[in-house]
Amino acid sequence: MGALHVVVLAAGKGRRMRSDLPKVLHELAGRPLLRHVVDAARGLEPAALHVVVGEGGDRVRAQLPDPGLRWVWQHERLGTGHALRQAMPEVPDEATLLVLCGDVPLVSRATLEAARAAAATGALALVTVTVDDPSGYGRILSDSAGRVAGIVEERDAGPREREIGEINSGILAAPARDLRRWLGRLQRRNAQGEYYLTDVVAQAVADGMTTARVRAASPEEVLGVNDRVQLARLERHLQARLAEGLMREGATLADPARVDVRGPVRVGRDVRIDANVIFEGEVVLGDGVRIGPHTCIRSSDLGARSEVLGHCHIEHARVGEDCRIGPFARLRAGARLERGVRVGNFVEVKATRMGAGSRAGHLSYLGDAELGREVNVGAGAITCNYDGANKHRTVIGDGAFIGSGVELVAPVAVGEGAFIGTGSTVTKDAPAGQLTLARTRQTTIPRWKRPARKG
Ligand code: UD1
Ligand code: CA
Repeated sequence: MGALHVVVLAAGKGRRMRSDLPKVLHELAGRPLLRHVVDAARGLEPAALHVVVGEGGDRVRAQLPDPGLRWVWQHERLGTGHALRQAMPEVPDEATLLVLCGDVPLVSRATLEAARAAAATGALALVTVTVDDPSGYGRILSDSAGRVAGIVEERDAGPREREIGEINSGILAAPARDLRRWLGRLQRRNAQGEYYLTDVVAQAVADGMTTARVRAASPEEVLGVNDRVQLARLERHLQARLAEGLMREGATLADPARVDVRGPVRVGRDVRIDANVIFEGEVVLGDGVRIGPHTCIRSSDLGARSEVLGHCHIEHARVGEDCRIGPFARLRAGARLERGVRVGNFVEVKATRMGAGSRAGHLSYLGDAELGREVNVGAGAITCNYDGANKHRTVIGDGAFIGSGVELVAPVAVGEGAFIGTGSTVTKDAPAGQLTLARTRQTTIPRWKRPARKG
């Protein structure tokens, strides 16, 4: 059995998307369509993985910087058969060749393995599926014995052929030597004036070659994305599957249709996720974590039993165990919360470590700061970390108490157990264990008269 070469066709214009972005870069579950296809192909450990790109190909390459990919250019968009032809010089005759479409993102490993195995026996293997609504797809023609006899594109099909529910997924596999021969014979005599890859089936039949149909396990697996309606349908299908995965791992979802997973999410046992929660990037939720409604969590880790109340934004943050965040809190890049930290409503934390048991309950900004353990940050207290040119650090010792409305003008340090009086603007280091006040004294002007309106 020859080495496996995979060619992904991704040079199409994607006209039906009506987009400036190459179609294969449109995202499904937070990743480009082409990324899904490439990852599926990778699972087969091919000897080589070629990707055919055209207009916008540089953007496509930039989004998939994998060193293992071999990029092939199709300068004129003359159809799927023409696209595959561009890759053939890179594929040896002895190889088994598997052809995938960059716009058919959810194909399973098992289906691809089956196609490869059939092709390795010397057959032309076609991945097909029967669907309720075959419109837009190439239809599979069968001979009297039920074997695949050809494929007719919708635009070239007559009314009887359009009735056929079995469609071409666009995925096929065959010995490279045979495919090369068939590709050489393709003609452009069809409705679109293109070299159709699908015409190799008739060629194979004419050569007396065996055709093998590999049936996809489900229609969704081989659905293509030609427009944004199909993209949205596939997104919902994939999201339903991802939500099911979370439930199987131990998460209770208030509504599996109202959670969006756009990256790998790992959940522990007894995690609860309320409605309208969005996950992006890599997210880890420890045992017993609870996520409130309308919350976005991106590339973050939450320790066991931590709770995020509704309407929070959390990104690139690390949250320890037993923390309580929100509602309406924002954790930005570099937020590190140790065990039992509380971050309340309208509090923003950036590039800041909060030691165990520290609390910032209301309306604060903590940026570029280091808080020890059991620090209390009063309502409205903020770090003034930016002087208009540079960022500076604020360091607060264990057990310090920062009164409400305090401004900590960085760089500045507050010692252990220090107490900063409400409303202070702290510009110099505050010593440990003492009360520091930095505000004007209250005065009352006796016999003051309210200004009277003239005239
Ligand atoms: C194709 C098949 C159709 C099948 C359907 C499955 C042909 C002629 N038709 O139709 O039988 O049911 O896929 O989804 O093959 N591409 C290039 N260069 C080109 C043209 C296309 O690289 O010149 C790429 C596209 O980027 C895409 C793939 O080939 O990834 C399929 O092309 P598309 O135009 O989407 O074909 P369909 O009309 O969907
Ligand atoms: Ca397509």
